Amino acid sequence: MATTITFSTVYGSSELYARRLASSLDLEARDVADVSRVSDGVLVHFGGLYAGTVCGLRRACALAKPPVRLVVCTVGLADPGIEDNAETIDKTVRAIVRRDDLVIFHLRGRMDYRKLSVKHRAMMWALVKVLMKSKKELSDEDRALIGTYGKTIDFVDESWLDPVRTYLSQQVE
Ligand SMILES: Cc1cc2nc3c(=O)[nH]c(=O)nc-3n(C[C@H](O)[C@H](O)[C@H](O)COP(=O)(O)O)c2cc1C
Repeated sequence: MATTITFSTVYGSSELYARRLASSLDLEARDVADVSRVSDGVLVHFGGLYAGTVCGLRRACALAKPPVRLVVCTVGLADPGIEDNAETIDKTVRAIVRRDDLVIFHLRGRMDYRKLSVKHRAMMWALVKVLMKSKKELSDEDRALIGTYGKTIDFVDESWLDPVRTYLSQQVE
């Protein structure tokens, strides 16, 4: 089946995953902003999670009009193994893409505070401050976010691509 692989990234982890998947399939991954048409098959889009949105997702959705299938691979820091996190991410994606046939995978990325833009650094500072002042009980994730504030966090691992590879290998024309 024709497979188009796109990415939209700020700090590179979505691009890294997209390129790794593409090279294993003898394909090329492209920035979703540089793709103008997808006429058949499946579009697999990798996008970083940023406070309630997924980079490049609206563009990917516009490109993958049915019958083109759309697979969204979110790349974020939250552990998708925690059910609440996976549900929150799915809700974020489904609020943007209203398609019953949508397939979503969750991958983990990385964040290096030294490389964050001023805006992103301010957002993270504000988030941690809100959490620290919060009166409700903090989740493990909240505590991890506070504990890793200012550090480098790297969850990038090729094995997050395994379910995506399995899914693609099962698709027929
Ligand atoms: C301002 C900001 C907001 C973020 N929001 C989320 C989030 O809501 N959920 C999450 O799992 N990760 C979040 N992250 C972490 C990024 O998704 C993570 O660093 C990801 O690897 C970025 O993808 P990219 O390298 O392709 O840009 C956030 C990071 C920043 C700087």
